[in-house]
Amino acid sequence: MRTGVWLVGARGSVATTSVVGALALRAGLTGPTGCVTELPELRGPALPSFADLVFGGHDPVATPLAKRAEALADAGVLPARLVAALGAELAAVDDEVRPAPADGSQADRAATTVADLTAFRARHRLGRVVVVNVSATEPVPAPHPAHADPDALAAALAGPDEVLPSSSLYAYAAFVAGCPYVDFTPSTGARLPALEALADRHGLPYAGHDGKTGETLVKSVLAPMFAMRHLTVRSWSGTNLLGGGDGANLADPDANAAKVRSKDRVVGEILGYVPQGHTRIDYVEELGDFKTAWDLVTFAGFLGTGMRMEFTWHGCDSALAAPLVLDLARLTAAAHAAGRRGPLIDLAFFFKDPLGAPTHSLVEQWDRLTRFTAALHADAGGAA
Ligand SMILES: NC(=O)c1ccc[n+]([C@@H]2O[C@H](COP(=O)([O-])OP(=O)(O)OC[C@H]3O[C@@H](n4cnc5c(N)ncnc54)[C@H](O)[C@@H]3O)[C@@H](O)[C@H]2O)c1
Repeated sequence: MRTGVWLVGARGSVATTSVVGALALRAGLTGPTGCVTELPELRGPALPSFADLVFGGHDPVATPLAKRAEALADAGVLPARLVAALGAELAAVDDEVRPAPADGSQADRAATTVADLTAFRARHRLGRVVVVNVSATEPVPAPHPAHADPDALAAALAGPDEVLPSSSLYAYAAFVAGCPYVDFTPSTGARLPALEALADRHGLPYAGHDGKTGETLVKSVLAPMFAMRHLTVRSWSGTNLLGGGDGANLADPDANAAKVRSKDRVVGEILGYVPQGHTRIDYVEELGDFKTAWDLVTFAGFLGTGMRMEFTWHGCDSALAAPLVLDLARLTAAAHAAGRRGPLIDLAFFFKDPLGAPTHSLVEQWDRLTRFTAALHADAGGAA
């Protein structure tokens, strides 16, 4: 099942690491550590193989992928030997990256995106193309009446207003082109009634939001522990220090607010009450793609005795995110092939702010994911 993976933000750190990782897996130069779809519980016939994945994408910057990969190798994110070995393959993917459409009305830009997607699908004879947003995080957009209805939206896009934020315009174009859409960022993406209706009209699945790769991943394991032991969490404060393009973008207060909103939700929704404290994200250029998160949790036990725990997470963000991008592309492609439509709430395992928010507990999310994947494999005619 040849499957296209169209990366919005194709020259960014997460996208470049995803492409290098998939090419290295295909060439047998590395193993699938970090790819949960390669665990025995999830592996099976419904998923396209790494060799089946064909990459393309959009980005406003023109830096060749090989140069981006070299910079990531210099920063210790990617092994330099892999980047050196994959030069020809990276150049081939580079040929499939198009400039982010920037001219004309939003309808014109959506039409260019649709044309790029359909030409990519035809050129490579792909069964389907999954559009994955790994572009820079956007601020939360202002509401617009056309967000409520797909026909009103199509009409408004042809006018002079910026009706949709960029992530949602890509989701719109993906649905018009018949492509499933995954949002790995906290941006709005497909989370508008008009876009949900459009996905339904085209019988398409979509997934999101905001890959769960670090501090929030740990929170989604620890918070259920406090809840299950009937301990009262009095405060939970976290400070995240990160560099890289994502960190630089999150230095913008509006983008920062969108990200913090996504990160803050988990603990309150698992516990059923909101403890004191906040999550902060600070940009420290020196850290590059390596992130440090410090969390302090104060809690009360029997007879009100106060206690505390602290943890420190040092993660390489792109190395944690890239295998999940590949997992999400494979699972969403399989869901589309099986005729699933609408929000893929069983993929909550991957996200900080999951669509439909069925649960924020990682263990419960894992249970849903394994059942969902087993059903896809059964549909595809084999056992996982
Ligand atoms: N790394 C992680 O662990 C992680 C976890 C969750 C979410 N994310 C999200 O993933 C996204 C990517 O992170 P990154 O570290 O790769 O950032 P990055 O800054 O390295 O890459 C973003 C890329 O998007 C491109 N871009 C900007 N506007 C665009 C547009 N309109 N169309 C197409 N491309 C556009 C930029 O040119 C850049 O190449 C961010 O939104 C981040 O919040 C990352």
